[in-house]
Amino acid sequence: MKPIILDVDTGIDDALAMSYALNSPELELLGFTTCFGNVSVAEATRNTLAVLEKAGKRIPVYAGADQTFTRRKKKGWAKHVHGEDGLGNTLKNDPITQAESQFAPEFMIEQVKNRPHEITIIAVGPLTNLALAIKRAPEIIPLVKEVVIMGGAVKVPGNVNAYAEANMIADPEAAEYVFSSGLKVTLVGLDVTMQTLLPKAKLNEWRAAGKETADFFADMTEFYIEYYESFYPGIGGCALHDPLAVGVAIDSSFVTTETMNVKVVTEGEEAGRTVGNQEGEPRIRVCTEVEAERFLDHFLSKVV
Ligand code: BDR
Ligand code: CA
Repeated sequence: MKPIILDVDTGIDDALAMSYALNSPELELLGFTTCFGNVSVAEATRNTLAVLEKAGKRIPVYAGADQTFTRRKKKGWAKHVHGEDGLGNTLKNDPITQAESQFAPEFMIEQVKNRPHEITIIAVGPLTNLALAIKRAPEIIPLVKEVVIMGGAVKVPGNVNAYAEANMIADPEAAEYVFSSGLKVTLVGLDVTMQTLLPKAKLNEWRAAGKETADFFADMTEFYIEYYESFYPGIGGCALHDPLAVGVAIDSSFVTTETMNVKVVTEGEEAGRTVGNQEGEPRIRVCTEVEAERFLDHFLSKVV
C-alpha cells in the first residue's frame, strides 16, 4: 500500500477523486488536507467531511490555506462549475464530524518526517498548502517520495482563459514555488485530463445500484456534466481531472510523460500559464498522453 495525503478543494471532481482513492486498496490514506479553490477553505473542509460521511469512512481531515501563498486575495470561486455548495447543490445537512485542529501544511510536514521517502502527496487544488509546507520545512523536500499534481495546461489551452488552468491561476506563486523546489513532481494537466470524459449514461448505472452513496455521487456529477455540456457543447461528458491524478498515483502506466522544466507565469494576462521547456535541468514529469479508456474502466470499477 502506498501511503498518501490527498490535498483537495472539494469540488465535484475532488469528491469523485476522494471516493476513487477511498475504494482503492493500493492506497493507504493518511489524511485529507483542504485548501481554498473551487470554494472557500471552510466550505472545502465541510464538503470533504460530508463526502467521507456519505462514503461511510473515517479518515482525518486537516484544514489548510484560506488565501494564496503571497496572501493575495483569490478572485471568486468556481460555483458555476461546482454549484453553490461546491457539490452540485446536493448537500442537505452539515456534516456531524469535524476537522482536526492541526494546520494542513503542519500535518504534511509531520507525516513526511515520520515516514521519510515513503509518502506520496496528491494535490488536486491550488498548491498553497504544499508551498507553505516546504517553505516552513524545506528539509522535507528530499524526503517526499513523489508529488502528483492535477494542474496546468502545458501543450493545450487553459480552462479559465486561453492560458491558465484553474488550480494554477488560483495561486500561481505557490505553483511556481513548488515546481522550482526540487520536489519530484508528476504533472497531470489538461493535456491529459480533458481526454478522460465520464459520459452521462454512466450515472444511470450508478443509480441502478439503489444505494444512497451512489445516488449522491450521481446527482452531483450530473450538475458537473451539465456545466461541461453548456461550456463545451457536444463534449459528451465531464472531465475527470482530479480522479486522473489519483489514477496516476495508483498506476503510472495510464499515462506517458515527458520530462521538462515547467515555469509558471505569475504576472499579467498570462498569469497561471504553465510553460514547459528543456532549459536548465528538466525534472517535472509532464503527462502528455493517457490511455483514457483503460483509466475510465479502472475508475468506474472503484468509484461508487
Ligand atoms: C481543476 O479545477 C477545479 O475546478 C477542479 O476541481 C480541478 O482540480 C481543473 O482545472
Ligand atoms: Ca480540485
